[in-house]
Amino acid sequence: MTATTASIQASGPTRRDARSKAAGSARYAADFPHGHPAYAALVRSTVARGTITAIETVRAEAVPGVQAVLTHRSFNRGLGDETFVMKGGHMQSSFMPLSSDAVHYAGQIVGLVLADTIEAAEEAAALVEVGTTREQASADMDAARAAPEDDEKAALCKGDADAAFASAPVKVDLRYDTPAQHHNPIELYATTAAWVGDQLTVNVPSQWVMGTQAGLAAIFGVPQENVHVECPYVGGGFGSKATILPHVVLIAEAARRLGRPVKLVVPRDAMWTVGSFRPATRARVALGAERDGTLTSIIFEETGQSSHIDHIAFPGSTAISRMYESKTLRTKQGTVATDVNTPGFQRAPAEASSFFGFESAIDELAVALDMDPIALRLKNEPAVDPIKGVPWSSRSLKRCYERGAELFGWDKRNAAPGMTSLPDGTLVGYGCATATYPSAMAPAAARVTLKGDGSLLVETAAHDLGTGAYTVLGQVAGEMLGVADGSIAVKLGDTTLPSGPMAGGSITTGSAGSAIHKAATQLRDRLADAATAPGAPFAGTAPSTLGFADGRVSAPGGVGHSLADLLAALKLGELAEDAEWKPHGMDDETASKGLGGGMAMAGPVSDVSSFSFGAQFAEVHVDPILRTVHVARMVGVFACGRIINERTTHSNLVGGMIWGAGFALLEQSKVDGPQAKFANADLAGYHIATNADIGEVTVETIPETDTAVNAIGAKAVGEIGIVGMPAAIANAVYNATGIRVRKTPILIEDLLER
Ligand code: MOS
Repeated sequence: MTATTASIQASGPTRRDARSKAAGSARYAADFPHGHPAYAALVRSTVARGTITAIETVRAEAVPGVQAVLTHRSFNRGLGDETFVMKGGHMQSSFMPLSSDAVHYAGQIVGLVLADTIEAAEEAAALVEVGTTREQASADMDAARAAPEDDEKAALCKGDADAAFASAPVKVDLRYDTPAQHHNPIELYATTAAWVGDQLTVNVPSQWVMGTQAGLAAIFGVPQENVHVECPYVGGGFGSKATILPHVVLIAEAARRLGRPVKLVVPRDAMWTVGSFRPATRARVALGAERDGTLTSIIFEETGQSSHIDHIAFPGSTAISRMYESKTLRTKQGTVATDVNTPGFQRAPAEASSFFGFESAIDELAVALDMDPIALRLKNEPAVDPIKGVPWSSRSLKRCYERGAELFGWDKRNAAPGMTSLPDGTLVGYGCATATYPSAMAPAAARVTLKGDGSLLVETAAHDLGTGAYTVLGQVAGEMLGVADGSIAVKLGDTTLPSGPMAGGSITTGSAGSAIHKAATQLRDRLADAATAPGAPFAGTAPSTLGFADGRVSAPGGVGHSLADLLAALKLGELAEDAEWKPHGMDDETASKGLGGGMAMAGPVSDVSSFSFGAQFAEVHVDPILRTVHVARMVGVFACGRIINERTTHSNLVGGMIWGAGFALLEQSKVDGPQAKFANADLAGYHIATNADIGEVTVETIPETDTAVNAIGAKAVGEIGIVGMPAAIANAVYNATGIRVRKTPILIEDLLER
């Protein structure tokens, strides 16, 4: 096994939070002490759809230490309304467990036990007996009891794509399937809630502390500032912690009733149904081209799995439609309701699933054209946004392919499938695919403080999910004020800080970073003005000519003063600046809604079109008899605007690519048909990529200067790494075997010779 090499080669400051995490002093949500909490355990439905007719809690209540057993009969919450995130609210679902006798999905919370110890709570939860009618249900989108619904708003149309397809000399018309997948961050969903009077403190791993605060305040009818959400560290999120999960409301309400802090750590198997998941998709991709490879028609029809209780859709067409120039294009997006908990965001929610089919189909068209798939892609590179006609803020995809092909050794590929093998007979295949991710942005606020000792404190209620935000956001302030990385402290993940955006849609660096950049610029200007005033150390010097570097301020040609000495000379103590930043073109009302914890996103398309791009490559080894697939090498070259920290960026991209390999070959939440439930809800049955599954991973970024996307020129990094990998691997599997697998995961049985 070869070690991954990319993050070792990359440079940039190491993680500000590395030491505390390695030493175990970093405090995650479940680690916050709350004197004598009650512990909660969940009772969940084994039936997927029906009505609760009986619920027996006597035996549970008799377990020593049990304080309360809450069911829909006793819960009866009478709380304020708070809506589903896709309707402008903050909840993962509009459905609140324990609010009625209705069961909508298997694994639904139907009881909550509160006890003095976790052992008593779990023992009692196992003794709650629930009687439920059992109605016909399906968790499988192909066997759904509802018909698919069209989402007309998501449909795009350019010319007559069907006519162009019909008359195209070369064409493919194919169907691709992806399964439901579940996020499995290392840190389980944990919630502790504590009330003091009408003040609520919640420790919950969150990708959106401001939204969680706003939502809980609305639900409990208290002013927003009465709710304190605190989670400085998040042990992985991937979208699962972006919204308020219903159990958080139950725990806060239980704590209010008990008059005592309540703590719940959701067990791994329950995470399949108390949170969200990546919905299954079915896609038709039809492509028509001239014989020289000029695309003339793109048709993309995709149906995604949703739930009966909510409507949620992740249309792939927004990104798909930006990839290639084509005279005509038609997309159709739909959903089908199933009897499951509501799906939600999971790393590149729209792109990861839809690019598997779309970029596989491009490879299939290249085969039909007898053309190199990279040449086909580059032949159809669009000069401007193909839908809106506006310029790209930056688009270096061609350079990504050129550099990626060189790093990978694409020229050694034999385009004829099944023709390359190792001396022991192992089949070798090369494949590639394009990745993209939109660069959206949200308003943000920040405070930057220059302390008397010359160090910096950077504060914003943004989040670090393990991505490196602590490090990168500190760097943004440090470079503006010339302060070294070791003298910078960063505070994130707390609603008492200036408002930060949701850590979703890969927006943290661009959005929170722009607010920090603004505050740091104000601070620098203020200090420069004070330092050049009459009687000050730099009196007579033009403020704009002062240099800030290495912890010192200098006039042109002079040695200058340390920041600490300068503050002392100016008798300033410390200097703090607050700034609010909003994306270009966003109106003030939307921005202030966003800063208040509401959903307010801008982009990726305004008067420019802003996407990150990447070219991804895979070499797979297929056992000629057993048909096992091993990913021997992956190469990804990305263009994501300005890279502030190569080290953390590369780790993020490597992680995304590894997940992409898991998507291609391992991950699926299997549905038990008759029971309408996820059958492999644990990490034994649900396979994710481990070290043994992954060979060498190489990542590079193309230097890009993007002056249009935001104040700091940084495009999306967090999610793009996963996007092209499933198709690159499927294309490599075809190159190795001649077998085209149009579904994930690609399994042994898909590769048996027929
Ligand atoms: Mo990401 S799925 O937008 O948290």
